[in-house]
Amino acid sequence: MVVVKAMEITSYFVLLCLMEITTQDPLPVVIWHGIGDSCCGRNMGSIKSLIEEQVQGIYVKSLEIGNSTTEDVNNGYLMNVNDQITMACKLISDDSKLQNGYNALGFSQGGQFMRGVVQRCPTPRIFNFVSIGGQHQGVYGVPKCPGDKSTLCDIVRKLLSYGAYVSFVQDNLVPAEYWHDPLNLDEYRSKSVFLADINQERTKNPVYKENLLKLKNFVLVKFLQDTTVEPRESEWFGFYKPGQAKKLLTVFETPLYQQDWLGLKKLNDTGRLHFLSSDTDHQKFTNEWFISNIINKFFK
Ligand SMILES: *[C@@H]1O[C@H](CO)[C@@H](O)[C@H](O)[C@H]1NC(C)=O
Ligand SMILES: *[C@@H]1O[C@H](CO)[C@@H](O)[C@H](O)[C@H]1NC(C)=O
Repeated sequence: MVVVKAMEITSYFVLLCLMEITTQDPLPVVIWHGIGDSCCGRNMGSIKSLIEEQVQGIYVKSLEIGNSTTEDVNNGYLMNVNDQITMACKLISDDSKLQNGYNALGFSQGGQFMRGVVQRCPTPRIFNFVSIGGQHQGVYGVPKCPGDKSTLCDIVRKLLSYGAYVSFVQDNLVPAEYWHDPLNLDEYRSKSVFLADINQERTKNPVYKENLLKLKNFVLVKFLQDTTVEPRESEWFGFYKPGQAKKLLTVFETPLYQQDWLGLKKLNDTGRLHFLSSDTDHQKFTNEWFISNIINKFFK
């Protein structure tokens, strides 16, 4: 009697162990929000819930850059991007739930900042990286200010017209740090404290390429009707042909790709670089689009 009971318990235990093996937890997702937004308000909050509803048991962390919602929003305009990336890296590496790796998700400017994390902060490992409307070749156009009384955004516009490459503007104004002036490329290359560095425009840092190549998939989403990002091709690493601001080059026509400064060519050649689009304005994708193109393909 006792023996039978013991056997029952043992097989029950074995069964539990097997279940444990087959139902391994899904990889966590780390989110970096866009400008004017915060980690945990309406926008990122609903993205987080959407992922949690679709992927059972998933851990989703939305990065808060600062000690409060207000700081998080203000830092999106005013905190040096390199310092933000250092901070994000610490938030990620200090989180015990992320130690086995994660998938990364960046929205708008959070797209290029998250790429900074991929290139500079490879531990814990990042598997899939999804950029939703990120400006990987920067912008050449002032941001559209949300609402009527967006003072901070208005200040940003004024300072950008004053001079994006003036050093105090570069060090303190976030959009200046990914300002890419095709008519002043020498200045861009020498003075851009963030974008020119992560795009290997100055020195070529082999570690950046090595780290980007560790990705399993790099997914770039472009909004085909985008009226916020100029030029919208930047979301797929395209940009103006040097010396003018009308004709555009695709990523495949740039030296960054052709000479493979970042490993994009290698990622493409191995089927790991994905160009997706949403036929809408900036960040106006539907939940259905997000579920079928992003969650189901890259987060499950
Ligand atoms: C958060 O608070 C700590 C302690 O007060 C402070 O040292 C740090 O600078 C703050 N972080 C940001 C991003 O403002
Ligand atoms: C990039 O990869 C796609 C899909 O594998 C392929 O069709 C395309 O030719 C590649 N582009 C270049 C420029 O090699």
